[in-house]
Amino acid sequence: MTQHPSHLLCFLLALVLALSACNGTVDLTELNSQELTAKMLPESPTNAFANNASAAALGQRLFFDKHLSVDATIACASCHSPDHGFSDPRAFSVGVRGQLGGRHAMPITAAAFQRFTLWDGRADSVWAQPLKAIENPREMDLTRLELVRVIADRYRNEYEAIFGVLPQLDVTPTRGKPGMTEWDALPTATQEDIDRVGANVGKALEAYERKLICADTKFDKWVRGEASLTTAEENGARSFVEHRCARCHSGPAFSDGEFHNIGVPSTDPGREAGLPQLLSDVFNGAGLFSDDTTSGQVKLAEAATETATTGAFKTPSLRGAGQRTFFGHASHQETLRGFIEDIYRNGRGGRDGGRDGRNATIGALDPQLQGVFVPDDELDDLVAFLHALDCPSAATELVAP
Ligand code: HEC
Ligand code: HEC
Repeated sequence: MTQHPSHLLCFLLALVLALSACNGTVDLTELNSQELTAKMLPESPTNAFANNASAAALGQRLFFDKHLSVDATIACASCHSPDHGFSDPRAFSVGVRGQLGGRHAMPITAAAFQRFTLWDGRADSVWAQPLKAIENPREMDLTRLELVRVIADRYRNEYEAIFGVLPQLDVTPTRGKPGMTEWDALPTATQEDIDRVGANVGKALEAYERKLICADTKFDKWVRGEASLTTAEENGARSFVEHRCARCHSGPAFSDGEFHNIGVPSTDPGREAGLPQLLSDVFNGAGLFSDDTTSGQVKLAEAATETATTGAFKTPSLRGAGQRTFFGHASHQETLRGFIEDIYRNGRGGRDGGRDGRNATIGALDPQLQGVFVPDDELDDLVAFLHALDCPSAATELVAP
């Protein structure tokens, strides 16, 4: 390509950011970083507290509180480390009682951009996700019933000021979540009261997570005309467009938010198992605790039509990818270059479904991988470009209520 940088810029923006930047509909260059982030960040209609400052302040305290785990040893931040862009520098996270998980803990700095959260998208919002980590026996292993007690003991005033009075829990057992006989014996109305607290904890955490967006990278500055890219970075940007990375790594987060099987070596069924869980989840956007069931239903109806879900995982955001220490849902590569070489160069995915004859370990490769192939001599530049998406260091000071 021999385009003038400004044309390339428009070309890239149109493709990568999926904004109509070239015809002047959105003039990105006139926005400062905060405005740009605000414009890019989608609304979260199923959470009425998503932009509530008090909820964000509560969410921040919850995020760092180890009392959200059964033995008070693990906080959200234990696996989503602020010092590592809110992701886990380890291949697999360690939960309560030293237990190892089976997927990489991705950063949460792009969660608010996503239509679905988690690698298999079994949550359709950011707020529906936390209770899954809290109740996961390998992660935090606190039940929703214990969670209500933690909130009542430690956060009663803050919680009630935002979400209203906490339920009275004098008569209920100690531990309780669906599947436990103690829980199943509770009256439906009590179960609903408890579930609502779990949903609200999620909504406060989402309000906080919306403030952790990875923005203002060198790339964003370049878009605003405040920084220039090196020749290597510009060449890498060209490779990114030419080799069709933006087919899936599109939009402001460099993720289409959809699910693809790109042949990462693992036998994890991914979306195939995640989709039915999402559709039957009481915390989904069409459920009792959603603040906008209409939009929730629309999203679920779309999800229900997905096909070829076996071995498909959510396209990760590439913001901050260069700062990660493990890549792919199963952490099978330790460097950005190694991942690109393995998947998009040696052709696990790549040309004709596997240059060296390899194919998907489970399910079938996504047809959108056809023609995706990065030549050896472009790898360094591509990696350089992705480093232009490195996130500025995380702000961990308390958000003002
Ligand atoms: C024991 C480690 C561990 C703990 C504790 C933990 N997480 Fe995670 N988190 C993970 C792993 C592993 C994944 C990916 C799991 C998957 O996709 O199945 C993940 C995924 C996520 C995602 C999805 C991001 C995306 O883009 O889809 C969000 C959001 C998140 N966690 C937030 C939280 C919050 C909030 C808490 C505290 C309530 C928490 N996590 C506690 C390990 C952990
Ligand atoms: C067909 C859709 C698709 C295309 C095209 C595509 N990717 Fe991906 N990419 C994905 C998915 C899905 C994953 C996660 C797969 C997994 O873990 O199972 C991923 C993972 C990655 C990761 C690892 C990120 C992390 O945090 O684990 C990088 C880096 C990456 N892609 C870069 C690229 C580049 C560079 C290109 C172009 C050469 C490209 N991708 C083309 C869908 C795609």
